[in-house]
Amino acid sequence: MTSTFHVRGGKPLNGEITVRGAKNLVSKAMVAALLGDETSILRSVPDIRDVQIVTELLKVHGVKVERDVEAGTIRMDSTNVERAHAAEIDAHAGSSRIPILFCGPLLHRLGEAIIPDLGGCRIGDRPINFHMDVLRNFGAVVDKREQGIYITAPGGLKGAKIHLDYPSVGATEQVLLTAVRAEGITELSNAAVEPEIEDLIAVLQKMGAIISLQTDRTITIEGVERLGGYDHVAIPDRIEAASWACAALVTKGDVLVRGAQQKPMATFLNVFRKIGGGMDITEEGIRFFMPETPLRAIAMETDVHPGFMTDWQQPLVVALTQAEGISIVHETVYENRLGFTEALNDMGARIQVYRECLGGSSCRFGRRNFNHSAVISGPKALTAADITVPDLRGGFSYLVAALGAEGVSTIRGIDLIDRGYESFREKLTALGADYWED
Ligand code: EPU
Repeated sequence: MTSTFHVRGGKPLNGEITVRGAKNLVSKAMVAALLGDETSILRSVPDIRDVQIVTELLKVHGVKVERDVEAGTIRMDSTNVERAHAAEIDAHAGSSRIPILFCGPLLHRLGEAIIPDLGGCRIGDRPINFHMDVLRNFGAVVDKREQGIYITAPGGLKGAKIHLDYPSVGATEQVLLTAVRAEGITELSNAAVEPEIEDLIAVLQKMGAIISLQTDRTITIEGVERLGGYDHVAIPDRIEAASWACAALVTKGDVLVRGAQQKPMATFLNVFRKIGGGMDITEEGIRFFMPETPLRAIAMETDVHPGFMTDWQQPLVVALTQAEGISIVHETVYENRLGFTEALNDMGARIQVYRECLGGSSCRFGRRNFNHSAVISGPKALTAADITVPDLRGGFSYLVAALGAEGVSTIRGIDLIDRGYESFREKLTALGADYWED
């Protein structure tokens, strides 16, 4: 059920909240459980819609899943894995890209995999070509059929030498989840090395995999015949933590994010400090606050790890509307991730987007007609508006903007935020936000 959300902004967010496991690790670690023939236990699992989606997808494939939402634990018994119908997978997956990652594990367990609705509008303009290329490298045969793509591996899956043209997170995960049980050695070069990927490697190692990660983005995997279960505490959600950090700045507040960890957030913390945000880093979490002095403008770009995450970009842009001077943000991971700035302009911000690569090195989107650089002039007082959530991160950023704006904003489609921000309503209440829903 979709509801309309109203926020009376202009009130500092003060207090503390807790972040649990990262959405972008938890879903993959759940898929990894399919590869083993024992029970796996994942801990610190947040109560978000993506976890529900993967739970249902595992269940339709015969995995017994028991979940304690409050404790944040999921037990997955994948002793028996069964075929599922494309329609069933489609019904549970919704717009999620997770089914793509089931391919390797299902090929190992069942000899075939189905991905419904390939490349249709549900997946949008985020293609899956890297994934299909990777699977072909292992010897899989990809057959496009009416109900989706049907993948088999008639000669079995064999280790391969694979190079990614771009260090894609999903394609790297696809390689890991396929190579661990493929015959022989796989060498992946130009791999993504995000902390969530390192955590997935840790999960797979617990299951019995042999994986080494070199400093030059090369990952070597020695295939093994069987994998067992795992017991693992998920790495905390550094995207959620950074989103609340920006909310603290925009509302001139003071928020302790329990569970936030310094190392996976190092690049964000550097930028946060450069723009003048206040922080205290401790063992229990990170406190983010607005200091006495005004925020400063910055020129920066998003990039793959160890660069500044693309998912940190949207909340940061909202914070930059409050910084003194001209900021430049160059988005190099997604070609189309600045559309949300239009609504911010309606709220009083002054953001112009450009096709050129501004503020950093030229990227693969330069001269290709994508508005992927933003120039933000600040500080600009934000005023309330009637806005509709465009996507997960853009949606949370609208919420942040509304919290910092004078007047009552109406946010439509707020439920999309439940995909990746655990109990955000309760957290807003704990921080003293003034909001209601109808
Ligand atoms: N790409 C292709 N072909 C492919 C796959 C990707 O061209 O087959 C392109 C994408 O269009 C994009 C770039 O490669 O321009 C990077 O995509 P990547 O594969 O790295 O992203 P992903 O695995 O689809 C994950 C996260 C995203 C996060 C990115 C980058 C999950 C479920 N999603 O996506 O998170 O932005 O990595 O770090 O892990 C979010 O949490 O809101 C979110 C979008």
